[in-house]
Amino acid sequence: MDVITNTIFELSQHDKAEIDAWVAQYPAEQKRSAVIPALHIAQKANGGWLSEAAMKAVADYLDLPQIQVFEVATFYSMFELAPVGKHKLCVCTNVSCMLSGSDEIVAHLKKRLQINFGETTADNKFTLKEVECLGACVNAPVLQLDHQFHEKLTPEKIDALLAGLE
Ligand code: FES
Repeated sequence: MDVITNTIFELSQHDKAEIDAWVAQYPAEQKRSAVIPALHIAQKANGGWLSEAAMKAVADYLDLPQIQVFEVATFYSMFELAPVGKHKLCVCTNVSCMLSGSDEIVAHLKKRLQINFGETTADNKFTLKEVECLGACVNAPVLQLDHQFHEKLTPEKIDALLAGLE
C-alpha cells in the first residue's frame, strides 16, 4: 500500500499528553509499547488516516526508528494510509461471518452505498472495508462502524444503521 507523503502534521499538546498517559503505563525503556495507541491518537488528529508525516511524528515522539512505526501502521487494518470518509464500515468476511451470511451483508452495503471495498462514497461520508475476524464470531455476521460493533446483522439492520447516519 502506498503511503501519502506530501502532508504536514504535528502532534498537539493534547495529543502528546494522551500519548504520555499511555507511555506511563509501561516500563520507561519500553516506550515502543505505546505505539498502537499513539498511532490511534495521530490518526484521529489527522482526520482519520495516517500520512507519512503523522507516522514520523509518532516515531519522533516515541524515539523510535520510523520503520518500526511504519511496520505497525501498515500491518493493522485499523490504520488507514489514505484519506477515508466520515464513517468507516469494516465488514468481517471471515469464516464464521461468511457462514452466517456476510455475503448478503456485503452485497447490500455495496448496493446501498454504490461503492466497493476500499472505496469511499462521492459525498465522502462512508468508506467500506473488508476485514478479518473482529473477534465477535458468536454474533456473526459482524461489522464495525467507526468504533462500535454491530452484530447479528441483517439487511434491515444495515438500513436502520445507515438511516441513523444520513
Ligand atoms: S469471523 Fe467475523 S467476527 Fe469472527
